[in-house]
Amino acid sequence: MISRNDPCWCKSGQKWKKCHYPTLPPEVNLTEVYFKKYGILLKTKEQIEGIRRACLLAKEILQKTCAMAKVGVTTNELNAYAHQLHIDAKAKPAPLGYGNPPYPKSICTSLNDVICHGIPNDIPLQEGDFLNIDVSPILGGYYGDCSAMVAVGPIDNEKQKVMDVSYQCLMRAIAELKPGLPLCKIGEIIASYAELHGCSVVHQFVGHGVGVRFHEPPEVPHHYNRIATPLAPGMTFTIEPMINAGAPEATIDPNQWTARTIDGKPSAQYEHTVLITETGYEVLTL
Ligand code: MF3
Ligand code: CO
Repeated sequence: MISRNDPCWCKSGQKWKKCHYPTLPPEVNLTEVYFKKYGILLKTKEQIEGIRRACLLAKEILQKTCAMAKVGVTTNELNAYAHQLHIDAKAKPAPLGYGNPPYPKSICTSLNDVICHGIPNDIPLQEGDFLNIDVSPILGGYYGDCSAMVAVGPIDNEKQKVMDVSYQCLMRAIAELKPGLPLCKIGEIIASYAELHGCSVVHQFVGHGVGVRFHEPPEVPHHYNRIATPLAPGMTFTIEPMINAGAPEATIDPNQWTARTIDGKPSAQYEHTVLITETGYEVLTL
């Protein structure tokens, strides 16, 4: 954790307190400033408790559903299983009926060259497939959102690489989170790591504020960007880098949801919901 007398993160050589230390006068209400200036809702203690519970459920449903993804199982079976876990917990799956056209299922299952928003279907999983499973329950009015990859039997080296790189991108970005960090640092950490390993970062989809609504400000790009918004305690948002083995561009299927790589090469993604705390961060879906 950086303290006031440490060198500033911006590498200016100055102490943090003389450089980028957040300098709002004490009478300024950060919650009001963030909402007016950025549309970002800094959550209250009570909201954080609700979001924490939704995120814990998201994590549990995700783990259980991932464990079911084996050769011969269809993604519709995974969807039905995950849907029932929501019902059992008195929760609702946020994706079901979301958006326009309404998303038709309760989870997303994105196989192989599908970047995100893959719609569960009746095709059995095959050895050598890999897939992202994305779970986002609404519990007590609060939202949690997380996703992970599953390899179905042995997978080729290219798939293994994007899977590893996407996981590292997420965890390395999370490790740097703290109040005052400019939002664009997240994209910088992710893009530099992905490029170093010969992978590309999808621009067309971003992480997002989450908790009181499914998708709230801010947008959290995973690519290089210049969004200087300083992270502040009480922010809850996702980081969900989509990493491609080939080109970064996505094309959307005629169903208007499913995004695929333009070159048919594999894409991988992991996602967590995080909370910015006074001293750093907490991963709510871990
Ligand atoms: N984590 C994904 C997202 O935030 C979940 C998408 S669900 C869908 O975009 F309904 F939008 F597909
Ligand atoms: Co999300």
